[in-house]
Amino acid sequence: MKLQVSLSRVYRFSAAHRLHAPQMDDEGNARLYDKCNNLNGHGHDYTLEITIRGRIDQETGMIIPLQDIDRAAHSVIDPLDHKHLDMEVGYFRTHRSTGEEIVQYLWDQLQNFLGDKLFKIKLWETNNNYFELERKS
Ligand code: NI
Repeated sequence: MKLQVSLSRVYRFSAAHRLHAPQMDDEGNARLYDKCNNLNGHGHDYTLEITIRGRIDQETGMIIPLQDIDRAAHSVIDPLDHKHLDMEVGYFRTHRSTGEEIVQYLWDQLQNFLGDKLFKIKLWETNNNYFELERKS
């Protein structure tokens, strides 16, 4: 069996959001989401780490050209950058803009470009917490 190599690349974007569950009252929302329930929203500087895994292409000596990852990443991230996620990004009208939901959204979008080579993504929401999604092998 041939070994697989992985490559990770990091991207950054900024976005605003407000966590609020419409089926719950204001007190419940404040208790559940704490500061992220702030009425007028708030921002995060997100860091996204994308890990690609695959065999080395004999012709190029690479798994994938970096430009291909950049193209995929920017196609997915640019529509979120400097946006209010809940108000300006359709997906988050029906999904809460939690780190868990955002990382799931990013995975589905990136997979359209990178297919099986997409191995893992890691989304930092603050310096203290990150969300991960990894392909099951
Ligand atoms: Ni937040």
